Amino acid sequence: MNNFRFAKPEDFKPYKLGKSLCMDFDAVCNAFAEDPNKRINGTLSGYIYDMPQFPDDHVKGGVHYARYVRLPTSLIPQKQPPLLAAFAETIQATIPQETSFFDLGPGPEWSVQQNTVPALKILQPDVYIPVDIEPDFTKEACHVINNQFPNIKVTNLVSNFHAEALPAATTANALVWYPGSTLGNLPSKPTTNFIDNAYVIKHLTLLRQGAKEEKARYLVLLMDRKKDNVQSMLDLYASDTAKGCFLSILFKLKRDLQAQNFDPYAFIYEPCWNEQTSAVEHTFTATASQSFKIYNGFTYDATTIKILADERYVLANSIKPSLDDMQTMLTRSGWEPLQFAEDVDRQFHIHLAQVG
Ligand SMILES: C[S@@+](CC[C@H](N)C(=O)[O-])C[C@H]1O[C@@H](n2cnc3c(N)ncnc32)[C@H](O)[C@@H]1O
Repeated sequence: MNNFRFAKPEDFKPYKLGKSLCMDFDAVCNAFAEDPNKRINGTLSGYIYDMPQFPDDHVKGGVHYARYVRLPTSLIPQKQPPLLAAFAETIQATIPQETSFFDLGPGPEWSVQQNTVPALKILQPDVYIPVDIEPDFTKEACHVINNQFPNIKVTNLVSNFHAEALPAATTANALVWYPGSTLGNLPSKPTTNFIDNAYVIKHLTLLRQGAKEEKARYLVLLMDRKKDNVQSMLDLYASDTAKGCFLSILFKLKRDLQAQNFDPYAFIYEPCWNEQTSAVEHTFTATASQSFKIYNGFTYDATTIKILADERYVLANSIKPSLDDMQTMLTRSGWEPLQFAEDVDRQFHIHLAQVG
């Protein structure tokens, strides 16, 4: 897609992106805190899908991601569609009529065709709402669903669902469709167990907000499962397209926070497993010390970030909980688990829950 928002690099202004699309100043401070004990892991995960904003923009995680999902080695994109379709059949009897279908993080068009369209055919909601931080993705999703389901009302919603509650449905019931292990992109504290991860609890709690005005709100959540073979989890991020998504974070930092003296090339990317947090941590080890200023385009705050050579920073997470831990987490966050299933290879688990 070549519809750049800005014709030239000089036209780009972070505030023109808007607060939810621009890289968050505090998230960067937390990721690179000088005291390692004060760092929060994975605060920049949500920025791996960003699209370029002008010709030759190095921020192109979303372009890499659209290629990544098509690779035969990409486990979730390749293997989750049959599980989603089978689970949609299973839950059809539970989900009532008059439902709004919130598609959380629909991703690029290919994902919508594979993951969303078959479920809509089975569940036949009245309203479809793609919710994504990336406007190109919601626009594509609206286009696909409008074309293929003329009877479904489509409403576009560009939003950061970590920060903003979903609107109350205009129908009696709501279904929050949350596949892709996207929940696994939330931050973590380096030594906190998954079931105590306050960021996950807060997010799942936020997804319940607005449900009071509905008869029932359901959640369908698919997560990548923790595997005994650690290397198999790390291998998922070995391709150049996967690496491209993560490296894009550094270019976005430089662009959105106007970090002119920041060298995004002075890092080595490596995925590492953290048993405590149950996450593949996307680590960036600095090959050189550097010190640079970042600017907040909304508050005009500025600060200096200091990076030390050989220091390891965890900028993104892919959290992979066990089935039992995920059920515990749903309960802790005010969702009542109703059903769950696993795929035949036990690579993922999928859950149906209702606001408790
Ligand atoms: C892993 S992809 C999932 C794509 C697809 N649903 C699937 O199952 O393969 C994550 C999607 O969530 C979106 N996303 C990530 N963090 C987000 C946030 N905080 N708010 C809104 N969308 C977000 C991304 O832009 C991307 O489209």
